[in-house]
Amino acid sequence: MTTKTWKYDGFVIRTETAEDIAKIRQLNKDVFGQENEARLVDQLRDGGHFIPQMSLVAVSAQGEVTGHILLSEITGLTDKGPVKTGAIAPGAVAKQHRSLKLAKGLADCLLEQARLLEFELIMLLARPRVYNRLGFSAELARKIESVYSDAGDAFQALELKQGVISETAWARVTYTAPFVECDG
Ligand SMILES: CC(C)(COP(=O)(O)OP(=O)(O)OC[C@H]1O[C@@H](n2cnc3c(N)ncnc32)[C@H](O)[C@@H]1OP(=O)(O)O)[C@@H](O)C(=O)NCCC(=O)NCCS
Repeated sequence: MTTKTWKYDGFVIRTETAEDIAKIRQLNKDVFGQENEARLVDQLRDGGHFIPQMSLVAVSAQGEVTGHILLSEITGLTDKGPVKTGAIAPGAVAKQHRSLKLAKGLADCLLEQARLLEFELIMLLARPRVYNRLGFSAELARKIESVYSDAGDAFQALELKQGVISETAWARVTYTAPFVECDG
């Protein structure tokens, strides 16, 4: 796979390469202070849920991996039929590089990739402030049945295909096994 690259305010955002894998693991361990999210990435990567174009890193001018974001495919279903759905998780930016809009930049590039792969709906579990400026909505997510439905405003959704949720009567998303194990 060719590496896709974006320039972002002194950083490079690009699709992951094999050399990034150990650095992504370490970044997630450092940022979350536990193994769960690093393990989630590994399990998604190993479990057939991984889409290489959907794992992006932010790299500093010094070549340090300072941020990572991953989208994997989950199952989406509405009363009108199946919906191609992606789940963003995890997303991490190293502490010393926060508030530079790196998380926003990573998500912007990821959504560009998701549109290319014709995803129709994107789900996300995170504090709203970073992502509602990208159009993610907790109100929209409340229409969708899920194991995270009781997560309040952290559970957010974005329609990439207009109306795919807002114009349906009923919707459900089902996460893959690695998420269930990560939460367990
Ligand atoms: C959430 C995270 C990815 C944001 O990274 P970032 O590059 O600093 O984010 P951005 O610069 O794009 O946006 C920063 C904005 O989000 C807000 N923000 C970031 N983390 C926040 C938090 N934990 N609580 C509340 N607001 C937060 C900042 O105040 C800032 O808002 P402002 O621009 O209005 O001042 C980063 O803080 C992180 O890795 N946190 C730990 C892991 C995590 O929670 N990941 C998300 C769920 S998987």
